[in-house]
Amino acid sequence: MPHSLEQALEEACTLITDTSTLVRVVLSGRRRNMQTEHERIDIRPVEIKGSILLQLTYSDGRATTTKNISAETTAILDLLSSGYANITVDSLDRSMSVRVTKSGDAQVHFEKKTLVQDLTHDKKKERLLDPSDPFLLAVGISDHKGQIKPSKNDKYKQVEEFLRLLVPTLNSAIEAGQIEKPSKEKPLSIVDLGCGHAYLTFAAHQYLRSIGMNVHVTGIDIRPESCDRNNAIAGSLGISQTITFKAEEIASTTAQQADIAIALHACDTATDDAIAWAVNGGAKLLLIAPCCHHDIQKQMEQSPEPWGALTKFGVMKERMGDLLTDALRAQILRIVGYRVEVIEFIGGEHTPRNIMIRAVKTGAQPDAIDIDRYREITSQWGIVPALSKKIPTFTIG
Ligand SMILES: C[S@@+](CC[C@H](N)C(=O)[O-])C[C@H]1O[C@@H](n2cnc3c(N)ncnc32)[C@H](O)[C@@H]1O
Repeated sequence: MPHSLEQALEEACTLITDTSTLVRVVLSGRRRNMQTEHERIDIRPVEIKGSILLQLTYSDGRATTTKNISAETTAILDLLSSGYANITVDSLDRSMSVRVTKSGDAQVHFEKKTLVQDLTHDKKKERLLDPSDPFLLAVGISDHKGQIKPSKNDKYKQVEEFLRLLVPTLNSAIEAGQIEKPSKEKPLSIVDLGCGHAYLTFAAHQYLRSIGMNVHVTGIDIRPESCDRNNAIAGSLGISQTITFKAEEIASTTAQQADIAIALHACDTATDDAIAWAVNGGAKLLLIAPCCHHDIQKQMEQSPEPWGALTKFGVMKERMGDLLTDALRAQILRIVGYRVEVIEFIGGEHTPRNIMIRAVKTGAQPDAIDIDRYREITSQWGIVPALSKKIPTFTIG
């Protein structure tokens, strides 16, 4: 039911300032013709030295920052009026959601809930992989004291964040019937393409097994020494039955088709080989974090105007090449029947290659606009993405 915005914000503010019942608040989206300073703000009450404050966590899609403020009406009303289109306030017994419409009214909805308040300050992100887990020692991420080696900290974080995205996506795909519930007889099959030292391969295997999932994981890498090393580690951990490695090129791998294809920084067009292998074999879920991009960059000889304003600077041309490459990969996946998201899977401080293409097979027919966009972009720039030549069912020229 439409409410006056003022009334809705005051009501939300009353709930937020009642810190005895407040559980959390999320401000997101942008009101028409308004700019917000942050993409999203999460708020929760925290107890610091005996006082209850509100902890604001700002996210701009890359980094997050936190700030603690007192629960004062004026400050909260200012925040609520600062341009966010969606406001959710969860209290112990109900949730209030406010959506600001294009015309500036408020759609308000209440739902009964039973929630629990957590006032702990400095909540650390729960680790998925215990640094002292023997597999982290075996692959060389942790030292003998069970601590992450400083030189491997970024890789450890990349692998953890990759898993943080893999697990909920996998669970939703199982719930939606897109992936069959894994069983002992029919374990979930995962192939890691361009696995290198197999940090992610082992982590996916160990973590999924630790949460009770039956899995079989295969790691593919062109380098025989990686394969030998990884198979030896699997043997030493006693898990060779459910994790195997092959020294093969992705494009011609003999690996059995998988439910899930993952790739973390497979070089240049090896990422295209990984996507193509997954699509051609009908993989249900793809999580691909691309690496360097040279294929499109080499083809960007003449930029369509007015993009010359950007490509005349080498650094911008390179970034434009990266964006075009991944945008076209996403577009191709959409056209061949995948629902696709392109997200940052980790902060840029841990790797500049922090984009992930996450695709779930739906089999949906593509929208005409997706085909038009693909054709327009490739013809304006005069480029032919490597991936387009690797998927026989992709017939858009
Ligand atoms: C940058 S490393 C990433 C390794 C690992 N995924 C990680 O994140 O630690 C890229 C790996 O891809 C492998 N690779 C590159 N091209 C390949 C291809 N065409 N087929 C199989 N492996 C390939 C390389 O040997 C290398 O180990």
